[in-house]
Amino acid sequence: MNKINQNQKLGEIVSMFPSSEKTFNKYKIDYCCGGHDTLVEAVNELGISLQPVLNELNHEYEHFISSHVEFKDWRNETATALIDHILDTHHDYTKKELKDLDLLVSKILKVHFEHHSEELLKVHRLFGLLKIELEEHLIKEEENLFPLIEEYDMTKDQTTLDKIKKFVIETESEHDTAGDILRELAKVTHDYQTPRGACTTFKLVYTKLDTLEKDLFRHIYLENSVLFEMLQINIH
Ligand SMILES: [Fe+2]
Ligand SMILES: [Fe+2]
Repeated sequence: MNKINQNQKLGEIVSMFPSSEKTFNKYKIDYCCGGHDTLVEAVNELGISLQPVLNELNHEYEHFISSHVEFKDWRNETATALIDHILDTHHDYTKKELKDLDLLVSKILKVHFEHHSEELLKVHRLFGLLKIELEEHLIKEEENLFPLIEEYDMTKDQTTLDKIKKFVIETESEHDTAGDILRELAKVTHDYQTPRGACTTFKLVYTKLDTLEKDLFRHIYLENSVLFEMLQINIH
């Protein structure tokens, strides 16, 4: 059986078996914006030991293979099919959550201002930044990048690919910006742990932010490590 090794890229490992995300999230290994890094590069950067992570990944991988879980390896699909999936699964969800959370984040800031103003002011500001970044980013992908990739998928025209390259560089840089905001949000919320005695809305907001973060990790991984890799444009 194939094994996971330290020189594999993080994005490649997630493509081999999606449940590796759990291990990466647990060790805060950034497989989305950092999906082009190898496992050894990522652990060195974080200053953590390689062996426990590697053992855990191989253990999970064995379990994944033996359980015969059905999953779609998007590397074997067309770019157009993957774009449809990203739009239906991730863009629609992100837009809805940003809208819902916008009201809820303001609400908990007002209700819990007396005891938690320091943390909630930071959450409010960071969420606001994330919302602006993502709303613009999703529209840019939908209006500029994705239609060009769909065109290239049909025509394989080199001029189209040259235009795509420029947008991919910009898109990956925007992913990095969103990733930085998410890291900061996780830090100020202590990984979305609500303080003792928090009300239902407070807990709901942190759960929703946590779920949005995990969804964005998968969304960005699919773009950086699968969709853009399909184009073989070599920008790294
Ligand atoms: Fe996207
Ligand atoms: Fe994106």
